[in-house]
Amino acid sequence: MKLFDVYPLNDITILKGQGSYIWDNNGNRYLDMYGGHAVISIGHTHPHYVQRITEQLHNIGFYSNSIKIPGQQILADLLGKIAGKEDYQLFLCNSGAEANENAMKLASFHTGRKKIIAFSKSFHGRTSLAVAATDTPSIVAPVNQTDNIHFLPFNDTDALEAFFAEHGKEIAAVITEGIQGVGGINVATDQFLRTIRTLCDEHGSVYIADSVQCGYGRSGKFFSHDHAYVNADIYTMAKGMGNGFPIGGIAIAPHIKPKHGMLGTTFGGNHLACAAAIAVLEVIENEKLLSHAAAIGSYLMAELNAIPELSNVRGRGLMTGFDLPEGHKDLRKRLLANHRIFTGEAKPDVIRLLPALNIQQVDVDLLIKAIKTELVKN
Ligand SMILES: Cc1ncc(COP(=O)(O)O)c(C=O)c1O
Repeated sequence: MKLFDVYPLNDITILKGQGSYIWDNNGNRYLDMYGGHAVISIGHTHPHYVQRITEQLHNIGFYSNSIKIPGQQILADLLGKIAGKEDYQLFLCNSGAEANENAMKLASFHTGRKKIIAFSKSFHGRTSLAVAATDTPSIVAPVNQTDNIHFLPFNDTDALEAFFAEHGKEIAAVITEGIQGVGGINVATDQFLRTIRTLCDEHGSVYIADSVQCGYGRSGKFFSHDHAYVNADIYTMAKGMGNGFPIGGIAIAPHIKPKHGMLGTTFGGNHLACAAAIAVLEVIENEKLLSHAAAIGSYLMAELNAIPELSNVRGRGLMTGFDLPEGHKDLRKRLLANHRIFTGEAKPDVIRLLPALNIQQVDVDLLIKAIKTELVKN
């Protein structure tokens, strides 16, 4: 059987990782400024993470959600404490798309309504409702198309107010990333997020904060929506939550009530996934990675801003992007080929930087030096 060929691949085989570095099958070392799509939160093969998962595997890896799994409550307690959402409720699943799918479904159950507002340049995943709420028509199959999703311009409070004024009582939820990732590192303004909060309160709609990429400390606060000092009704999480172990979840405000059978999954919240996610939160807490991400993110941003050829440097914490200058549209490829540095992209011409939250200044300096070296070449 051959692999279903949906991914454009770099001709590189990675076999080993440690901290912010990965090694290929020829022993070459690469700096990982991408974290495999913002997934690596506490660094590759962190010893505490390896230990917790190994110990768990020796006891039991999986049993179903028909029995008590102690790790789920330990995880929920830790998450509530570190995220400052102790009164929220946790539902565990396996990926970002599944988290968003469950969030929108729950909002619809809760309100009894069908309409969902999403925004231009959004990305929420590839399953049915999640992809319908994603502003990339080429990845939406005919069967995913629905009249229930309405796209409005991102960061446009007037358009949002006008839509609510007309359709307020039909709107189940507003879903937005706090910082758009795939869309090109676009930061939601505080005013925009506060307007979503106010309008959802006025009309009984649910505010869903897609924190799959921008959450889990990446912005320097646990949820990037926290920068606007608003609470969402549902936070969706995945990526950094398991540092590579597949786990997702939704944190649900106390006024949204559960009912048996309302949501469910076979694998979500299994013993092994909980061990991985607990280890991640313990490292985030013990190594003070929220404040570290904020500080090292400011350093990275200042260094990028000091490079005159780069424009529109943007982001928060360790979620940073910049536009590629004319004549250097292949900078990402050259950073990989000439300096062995992995970075991310957003189409058409943006570099995205999403390193592990415990990246060090010397590693950032390597990247900055490599960018400068490439920009003086023609
Ligand atoms: C903001 C956001 N939401 C949802 C997803 C989907 O997550 P997953 O690929 O785990 O389904 C992504 C993935 O890139 C994302 O960036």
